[in-house]
Amino acid sequence: MKAAVMRANNAPLELEDVQIDAPGPGEVLLKTAASGICHSDLTVIEGGLPFPPPCILGHEPAGVVEEVGEGVGDFAPGDHVIGCLTSFCGVCRFCTGGRPYLCPTQFAGRPEGAKPRLSAGNGDPIGQFANLSSFAERMLCPERSLVKIRPDMPLDRASLIGCGVTTGLGAALNTVHIPAGASVAIIGLGGVGLAALQGARIIGAGKLVAVDAKPWKFDLAQKLGATDCVDATDGDPVAAVHELTGGGADFVFECIGLVPTVQQAVAMTGRGGTTVLVGVVPMHLQVPISASDLTLQEKKITGSYMGSNRFRFDMPKYIDFYLDGRLHLDEMISSRIGLEEVNEGFDRIRKGEVARQVIVFD
Ligand code: APR
Ligand code: ZN
Ligand code: ZN
Repeated sequence: MKAAVMRANNAPLELEDVQIDAPGPGEVLLKTAASGICHSDLTVIEGGLPFPPPCILGHEPAGVVEEVGEGVGDFAPGDHVIGCLTSFCGVCRFCTGGRPYLCPTQFAGRPEGAKPRLSAGNGDPIGQFANLSSFAERMLCPERSLVKIRPDMPLDRASLIGCGVTTGLGAALNTVHIPAGASVAIIGLGGVGLAALQGARIIGAGKLVAVDAKPWKFDLAQKLGATDCVDATDGDPVAAVHELTGGGADFVFECIGLVPTVQQAVAMTGRGGTTVLVGVVPMHLQVPISASDLTLQEKKITGSYMGSNRFRFDMPKYIDFYLDGRLHLDEMISSRIGLEEVNEGFDRIRKGEVARQVIVFD
């Protein structure tokens, strides 16, 4: 099958013919229908999230089941599915305690010594990213990385739910509890931030302020529910959010993962408010913040990982939101491209020219 392989950090992905194994026990072979390109794939390419090459990235997929391995009861050939990187074991204290997205085994692949799921033409193993690797025509996944979805859901839009939409929407709907009318600021209007914005709208936020460095995004943000927009390159965005919200927002979602915007997020949070860190700051960086601000104004900071998802419960619900008109996904897709255009896709993300790009397979 054709796949885009990361052979080295900070280099273009290479289109190669790759071998994919047959499904083993508990595994499902999928024909990939669509895969969104997420900023976190770029973070891996740039070394901010460590994952050794050679490997196949892509972790925002939707596809169709082709074949199931021994003991797979939840899926059958022809089923439409979304893949999610937070695979769950089902028995640990996080899974049984209702937070399966924190399952410590989520990135465990096949047992040590087993044949690799993916390998190069010469037989050398190729790493599978997050049990998914969706920049490829086929995917071999644990069944516990997948959820079956309604067959009437278009698969290109379904793919967005695999990571960005679940991450942003879930940050607003699951990680924190936003009371109706609360003021919310969103920093960063990529796939993740636009989904957080929609989550805040769906849950009934009052003032909903969208902050980005690319003003062309503001039309889109307003269509998706923003009441006000702040150009981060035009004056001080912290002062602007304080002005619009009467002293700082009740909830601020940082959806980029940069040191200065994390600091801005804390500063934009009002007295008694909550900062939600959604964007992943490269692992080697630290962020200085004012601890006395947290104490004296009782601000809270929380991380939000993958929208605090229980994806088999959440994703079908998000699809219902889309199909009944409450979640807007069509507007979030800037372009549909072929796999051979993936490197140009990453260039467009680097330049901030796009909301979400989706790779579609025939
Ligand atoms: N101030 C304001 N906005 C900025 C700034 C800045 N200094 N720098 C970048 N942005 C905006 C970009 O213009 C873009 O709209 O942040 C947005 C980031 O969007 P994407 O690159 O599409 O990223 P996305 O896929 O949404 O992921 C965001 O969430 O999943 C995590 O860690 C992951 O870094 C990723 C983050
Ligand atoms: Zn992602
Ligand atoms: Zn578990």
